Amino acid sequence: MGEALRIGIAGLGTVGASVARVIAGKAGELTRQCGRPLTVAAVSARDRTRDRGVDLSGAAWFDDPVALAARAEIDVFVELIGGEEGPARASVKAALEAGRHVVTANKALLARHGVALAEIAENRGVLLNYEAAVAGGIPVIKTLRESLAGNTVNRVFGILNGTCNYILTRMEAEGISFEDCLADAQRLGYAEADPTFDIEGNDTAHKLSILTSLAFGTKIAAEDIYLEGISNISQADIRAAAELGYRIKLLGVAQRTESGIEQRVHPTMVPTASVIAQVHGVTNAVAIETDILGELLLSGPGAGGNATASAVVGDIADIAKSRPGFQHGPVFGRPVAEMKPYKRAKMRSHEGGYFIRLTVHDRVGVFASVARRMADAGISLESIVQRAAEPADDSRKTVILVTHETTEAAVRNAVEGITADGHLTDKPQVIRIERAE
Ligand SMILES: NC(=O)c1ccc[n+]([C@@H]2O[C@H](COP(=O)([O-])OP(=O)(O)OC[C@H]3O[C@@H](n4cnc5c(N)ncnc54)[C@H](OP(=O)(O)O)[C@@H]3O)[C@@H](O)[C@H]2O)c1
Repeated sequence: MGEALRIGIAGLGTVGASVARVIAGKAGELTRQCGRPLTVAAVSARDRTRDRGVDLSGAAWFDDPVALAARAEIDVFVELIGGEEGPARASVKAALEAGRHVVTANKALLARHGVALAEIAENRGVLLNYEAAVAGGIPVIKTLRESLAGNTVNRVFGILNGTCNYILTRMEAEGISFEDCLADAQRLGYAEADPTFDIEGNDTAHKLSILTSLAFGTKIAAEDIYLEGISNISQADIRAAAELGYRIKLLGVAQRTESGIEQRVHPTMVPTASVIAQVHGVTNAVAIETDILGELLLSGPGAGGNATASAVVGDIADIAKSRPGFQHGPVFGRPVAEMKPYKRAKMRSHEGGYFIRLTVHDRVGVFASVARRMADAGISLESIVQRAAEPADDSRKTVILVTHETTEAAVRNAVEGITADGHLTDKPQVIRIERAE
């Protein structure tokens, strides 16, 4: 039996307390798997008196997580405070500089400072593990970093935010509005009191930026992501999608193209028969397309104390099992010096199919004029239908177009033209269609 691995946990909230409970509750099994016991030697949180549902009396208490990281007698520092700056960043940096291995679930921190932190880890010869930072309990980091060696990834995309997927799933199943669904999600604890970060796509973007780096060997570029949230998805879109054989999902997509790498987060229509369209509710999923393997889809719980703790404990166990010289390799799959700068592909050159829903004045010639604008922009249409506006109204009509493969620039030109023609009564809706098996 090897010596105990001494763990310091900073943050004892939803995830941190679950991690402490799993380590205590599964002590025997973890010791057998790792060949040595795992011991929580030190902890830090704000409120020392709060019951965390686990006996932590044997662990040293630190009010200051930075002091814990740098001074406590620990081998691994586990950061579960959250936030891209403040105590999370300071304590992770202090731990790495002090030569401690680090485990974190903090996507915001990695999206902004991941490369700089990886550099410190590399220089100090320690591990920085972050499986829980993307898609919670789904082992996607390990898959990209370790299992797909030799594969060239062409596209990685996924449902990375449970709140958005929960809302879209219920909107479709129950025919209720985005606003009602969001209010219900908040009441049930599936959405934050301030849900902006989730529903506007920022959380998905953080996770996507980490996946992009692992998939394409580029430096993390979380600021360089095309971003559109789900707040303007209506029942009219959901119903039209269903009639056309699609389902709407908020996807994060990173894709290799001739001009660079696309990173985009936006509502997306995926074929109803595709595997990713079957991912419902708070479940997350990540699809990875490579030259050797083909398409792989991982799905499972993307959040919640236990699911996230599962990934954190897996990361801790890897450290317990690692021996100097036998580690799993660089933090983002290659040494920092080998990471390429991120070269953004322009959104205007994105190629794909598009769904366009227009609410137009019910006048003679409007339909033909819309079709002409499409033709002038070089867009070939898969379908164009006109129907009653929602809510029904004699003076307006809805026109729904589905394009064959075209470019974002062409679609924007056509929609600008239609808008300039004065035909529209409401803001046009444009939703990209994503190829999915
Ligand atoms: N929740 C999830 O499902 C989930 C999923 C994936 C990843 N994550 C990530 O996991 C991390 C933790 O999330 P969470 O949901 O567990 O958060 P949480 O429930 O809000 O817990 C945060 C913890 O940090 C402690 N804390 C805050 N400021 C501190 C400070 N200055 N010094 C010491 N401790 C401090 C809090 O102490 P008190 O308890 O005393 O207030 C609390 O225990 C975040 O990075 C999050 O993005 C969460």
